[in-house]
Amino acid sequence: MTGKFISLEGGEGAGKSSAIKAIEAWLEQHNIPYLLTREPGGTPMAEEIRELVLSAREETVAANTELLLVFASRVQHLSEKILPAIAQGKWVISDRFVDSSYVYQGIARGIDETVIDGLTNTFLQGQLPDKTLLLDVPVDIGMSRVQTRGEANRLDGESLAFHEKVRAGFLARADQEPSRFAVIDASQSIDSVEQQIIAQLNQLLLGTSA
Ligand SMILES: Nc1ncnc2c1ncn2[C@@H]1O[C@H](COP(=O)(O)OP(=O)(O)O)[C@@H](O)[C@H]1O
Ligand SMILES: [Mg+2]
Repeated sequence: MTGKFISLEGGEGAGKSSAIKAIEAWLEQHNIPYLLTREPGGTPMAEEIRELVLSAREETVAANTELLLVFASRVQHLSEKILPAIAQGKWVISDRFVDSSYVYQGIARGIDETVIDGLTNTFLQGQLPDKTLLLDVPVDIGMSRVQTRGEANRLDGESLAFHEKVRAGFLARADQEPSRFAVIDASQSIDSVEQQIIAQLNQLLLGTSA
């Protein structure tokens, strides 16, 4: 059995981390070997890079610095963790992957898409997820959830306009690649969001055995 690679995307407070729990229960139920992971991070070194990227600091962080750091962590994550797990037949579920760079460093911070295409082609060798679940939620709802959650990072503190660009950016990517993306209405209750996600997983599983 070959593994699968699924990424979860969406703005802060969309419910990605919460969704992982429902996905884990579904994988257990179906006896599917799996790996749950996240970006930036996923290996000890990549988690150190995550700290560098997400911690609040006085110094302004140049967009290109942020891009190269998240890509460095992603290359490490892909080669040391994701690809070996897929090779072992596992389903890999990653809380964020390369679409986050296209959206945060690209669309929201203004780095040209061709630069990110170049890094993707050179360093990820076209390893895109089999399925990307985009948890889409209006910015005000996402932000109020983040406030309830109570742990903020450097990106949570960005302007409303920034978060609006992030939301629109993800939806634009989903439009460009409709077969890879599934857009989940994450403004609904946790139960409804979980049901939408599980419907996608069931489809993916059917596709595998067909
Ligand atoms: N569908 C939902 N409805 C209401 N609250 C939610 C929903 N999904 C998540 N939450 C809550 O919102 C907060 C942010 O969710 P989280 O999963 O951490 O988002 P993300 O990982 O996408 O930033 C958490 O406190 C979580 O319990
Ligand atoms: Mg999260």
